[in-house]
Amino acid sequence: MIDNQIEIEEFIDQFELFPGTRYMGSKNKIILDLWHYLQEIEFDSFLDVFAGSNVVSYFMKTKGKQVITNDFMAISYFTSKAIIENTSTKIGEKDLLLLLQTPSSESFIYETYKDLYFADNENQFLDRVRANIELLDNDFKKAIAISALTRACMKKRPRGIFTFIGHRYDDGRKDIRKSLENHFIDNVHEFNNAVFDNETTCEANNELSQKLDKTADLVYLDPPYYSPKSDNDYVRRYHFVEGLAKRWEGLEIQEHTITKKFKSYQSPFSKRNTAFDAFHSLIEKHKDSVIAISYSSNSIPTKEELTNILKEYKNDVIVHEIDHTYSFGNQNHKIGNKSNRVKEYLFIGK
Ligand SMILES: C[S@@+](CC[C@H](N)C(=O)[O-])C[C@H]1O[C@@H](n2cnc3c(N)ncnc32)[C@H](O)[C@@H]1O
Repeated sequence: MIDNQIEIEEFIDQFELFPGTRYMGSKNKIILDLWHYLQEIEFDSFLDVFAGSNVVSYFMKTKGKQVITNDFMAISYFTSKAIIENTSTKIGEKDLLLLLQTPSSESFIYETYKDLYFADNENQFLDRVRANIELLDNDFKKAIAISALTRACMKKRPRGIFTFIGHRYDDGRKDIRKSLENHFIDNVHEFNNAVFDNETTCEANNELSQKLDKTADLVYLDPPYYSPKSDNDYVRRYHFVEGLAKRWEGLEIQEHTITKKFKSYQSPFSKRNTAFDAFHSLIEKHKDSVIAISYSSNSIPTKEELTNILKEYKNDVIVHEIDHTYSFGNQNHKIGNKSNRVKEYLFIGK
């Protein structure tokens, strides 16, 4: 009883160090509800095929699981690399000075994104730090620095997204007034503090779910929720930080767009006619593992349809319902409105 208490306290302390974001679809608010059901399953390894903010993976890491993450967004991948795969590497004071003070002639952001999201001096800061990250001598340090820089941009940005330009929605909150440089420095410390070793070998991947060739005792699927009423395009929301993470390498900016976004990555989960097949093939691919799927009540496939797909591959299928009001996403204006009350489903197939 006493040992158990100590273990719970240690775990809560570690999880509190997770650097969260308002990432669309993040399971931050319902993580304990998910754990309530998932802890019933016996598993040592955990595959998070759509890791997003990494909150579920980080939670599982604190529970001593061997975690394998994946997401097609680089921002998600670098965070996985920084705090899931990484067990001990941190950014030291010397590294931080190198990032902040090494002069750079880079001016891509300053020129391309002038007057769109950040002031000139902030764009120059981003150009300099992003270029200097390449001077770091270690991939984990690079991943921490990229994660800290992209999170700094999201925190300073009204609503944390890049679907509009200028300062609409600027509510004057502290995070918006704080300089990008201070955001970055604070985030480096936050990511450093979140690094820990759970004595397993965790791993980060950056693949399309269809191509990922990994397995685990428990496979968790939390794909974008398809609904005809809202779009689930992660690139549209986060293109600026995604581009920053990749230094826009291999990405083609659509010059005619006001936001200067690049072309969205293709996901079968973003269209009605491909979402069904995508579920079928993903579930078939992982049929030898226990499968847990998060999905919401206002999305397609419906609860019945997804249950039936899962039953084609699994004998024992249960659906749990978690009450959840979205605080963020396309339906932001409807906060507090009962029609925005959707249920979050957790399907478990054994
Ligand atoms: C609902 S979010 C996951 C949220 C995550 N569980 C969390 O708690 O933050 C869905 C994620 O799937 C990723 N994604 C969408 N289509 C994908 C695909 N075909 N392959 C890999 N990742 C994909 C998106 O980038 C996004 O991060």
